[in-house]
Amino acid sequence: MGSLDGKVAIVTGAARGVGRGEAMLLASEGAAVVVNDLGSERDGQGQQGGPAEEVVKEITSLGGTAIANYDDVADWIGGQRLIEQAIETFGRLDVLVCNAGILRDRVIFNLGEDDWDAVMRVHLKGHFVPVRFATAYWRKRAKESGEAAGGRIILTSSTSGLYGNPGQSNYGAAKSGIAGMSIIVAREMARYGVTCNAICPRARTRMTEEVFGAPADGAFDVYHPDNVAPWVAYLAGDEAADISGQTFLLYGGTVELLQPWVSVNKVTTDGRWSVDELAKARIELFAGRSTDPPPVPKVEFRIEQPAARS
Ligand SMILES: NC(=O)c1ccc[n+]([C@@H]2O[C@H](COP(=O)([O-])OP(=O)(O)OC[C@H]3O[C@@H](n4cnc5c(N)ncnc54)[C@H](O)[C@@H]3O)[C@@H](O)[C@H]2O)c1
Repeated sequence: MGSLDGKVAIVTGAARGVGRGEAMLLASEGAAVVVNDLGSERDGQGQQGGPAEEVVKEITSLGGTAIANYDDVADWIGGQRLIEQAIETFGRLDVLVCNAGILRDRVIFNLGEDDWDAVMRVHLKGHFVPVRFATAYWRKRAKESGEAAGGRIILTSSTSGLYGNPGQSNYGAAKSGIAGMSIIVAREMARYGVTCNAICPRARTRMTEEVFGAPADGAFDVYHPDNVAPWVAYLAGDEAADISGQTFLLYGGTVELLQPWVSVNKVTTDGRWSVDELAKARIELFAGRSTDPPPVPKVEFRIEQPAARS
């Protein structure tokens, strides 16, 4: 008996890296899985469907159930077709893992319009479109049955956005947006019995191959991408019905619960401040705290800042 027996799941960008591990584990836990991947290069260019088919073959050779989907998740029609394919093939949809992503790292003053647009499109719109059509389906299912739809959404954010990694203002902005979106979707879908959470993986994939060194011989590979999948599979199951609007950092054997923006201090006056008054009040506002950008908590790796291009 798997924890996801009878469930139907979609994993986007599931041909490689973190998404592949998620698709494999969801399938081994009993879910029928739609393995989505348009097969692009790391920077989003090109399209080659083969890798998704390979993951489907691996899953079925192990006795699992899976089909491939090659749609671009950021395409309005493609994202809709992906949701429909799951429902038409397997009769229902229970779990949506949005994972597809690309990288176009540049320091802000070298970042091109195309680098900005491509990253925003694949990450932000590529999360929005499948979530849009999956939530419409679950809302309809809940209204027709009069019961909780029980849908599970897992979005993929990154500490690059939440902590602020230099060289990734496009990627970080999109990933912060995804974390924020997960809380809003969680609030909107609570009444239909649908949860939405976000994860921040840390894993050695083609996206981060220059960040993490090779694992030590014989030692547990902390940055193996498959380490991310178990918490995702747990969030996808019935037992996690009460976990929603949360963000988790996942690597190795660690599941870390992250806290969203919190207020740490404030200054108030009756009516509106003058600029002169605020020049004095800032001392009370910061109250001994640093006015520099916030430090990155518990950094275990850092993506090197791309060299400035002249
Ligand atoms: N690897 C890490 O340490 C790390 C850290 C933080 C966040 N993430 C996030 O985790 C997710 C997976 O990253 P990864 O490291 O496994 O990268 P990866 O490049 O190995 O996998 C990403 C997959 O997404 C697919 N893809 C890209 N654009 C797509 C589109 N429009 N439609 C469908 N599929 C598309 C690619 O073909 C690729 O197979 C990404 O969202 C990434 O931003 C990864």
